[in-house]
Amino acid sequence: MENSTKQAPEQAPQPSSEQLMELMAMLKARALSGIITSFRSPNIIFGMTALTRLITHLDNNLEEGERRVLIIADDFTEKYANLISNMLSKVNIEAKIWAGVKPEGPTYTLDEAAKICEDYKPKVFLAIGGGSVLDTTKGLMVRYEKPEMDLFSISPLAPLGIRKKLKYYIAVPTTSGTGSEATLASMLTDMRFDPPKKFTVSHPELIPDYSFLITDFVKDMPPFLTMATGLDALAHAAGSYVSTIGTPFADAMNIYAIKEILKYLPRAYKYGAKDIEARSHMQIAASMGGLGFIHSRVGIDHALGHSMGKVLNVHHGLCVGLFLPYTLAFQRKISERWKDLCPLFGINSKDKNDDELFTEFLQSVKDFIHSMNGPVCVKEMKNPVITEETYFKNLDLLVQYAITDPVAYMVGRYIDNDIIKRIFEYAWDGRTIDF
Ligand SMILES: [Fe+2]
Repeated sequence: MENSTKQAPEQAPQPSSEQLMELMAMLKARALSGIITSFRSPNIIFGMTALTRLITHLDNNLEEGERRVLIIADDFTEKYANLISNMLSKVNIEAKIWAGVKPEGPTYTLDEAAKICEDYKPKVFLAIGGGSVLDTTKGLMVRYEKPEMDLFSISPLAPLGIRKKLKYYIAVPTTSGTGSEATLASMLTDMRFDPPKKFTVSHPELIPDYSFLITDFVKDMPPFLTMATGLDALAHAAGSYVSTIGTPFADAMNIYAIKEILKYLPRAYKYGAKDIEARSHMQIAASMGGLGFIHSRVGIDHALGHSMGKVLNVHHGLCVGLFLPYTLAFQRKISERWKDLCPLFGINSKDKNDDELFTEFLQSVKDFIHSMNGPVCVKEMKNPVITEETYFKNLDLLVQYAITDPVAYMVGRYIDNDIIKRIFEYAWDGRTIDF
């Protein structure tokens, strides 16, 4: 006789964090047989007419009853939001501005914006800003369309079922680095931790439908922001090129992004708004770096950088740029892909053994960062200054946040607390990773 007391079905045992890390370290699948077997990109519109084309696109494609746009911005980009709102009103598109995005997307801001969406019922999200604005918009898409969904447990492999309320997500980046305008990923801040901790919401349905690269909106970035966001783009492209997962599509994006960054970032840093060509190329390079890393995986620099960013309050791009040389040396033990990058830095490999060549390559990466007053070790940092005492007092917390960071699982080598701790120690005074 059948037992009338129904028991909840037993859940399949879930792999532990350690098991996941070991599994990812074993997946040396840089080939068409790898785990990434598609290439997804938004429609990217760039060049002198991008702003006009943004307005024309919405005018031509929004039907009556759909002409409601929520423009998402922050304090710095509200001026651009106002400009676009005025342009939209001239073609009879209603726009509401929510400029409440906070740096790195703390989750409470999503609740605030979701309430506005409930009343306003926008058909378009138009995000204008840096990574925080673009990433917050991705989180908000989920909150708006699926309020019951737990943001902390979204799987990129299961359908999300959004775009029932929204017709378009349009991204307009105002920095050149995060690549968020081209990717499915968003980094937000979990406020349940003290200090707050980064978490990721990633899903193919969160890729913007369109990205408009409007050079006028990035030309006035100050030198520090230009350098730090540009180094973020470099870390995406170089860190993922030397990883062990990827495809020729990702490689093409990363190699060309690195070439562009090496040529145009120092110019954008030095000449700012006077060098529109450099600004424009950096916008494209940042999107290419985004497309590169999202179809492979970022380096260990991003796990360490996310941690240092939160624990010691340092700009994301500055952190990941600082840790990039450590990624390159760490990956060298399992891959020779770094050799492909030497010619991009103008390094001739003739008559040099691997050690000599790698030393020259690593020095070139550091020289490039130094050329824009960027740091390559923590001791060198000026914005902010971190004392040896503060750094080592926080070392255990830095390790804990890095090892549990969402992108730590994507590192192509086995890592544990001791290894992460050693990398942090080496990064204090710039020692080359030799393990
Ligand atoms: Fe990044």
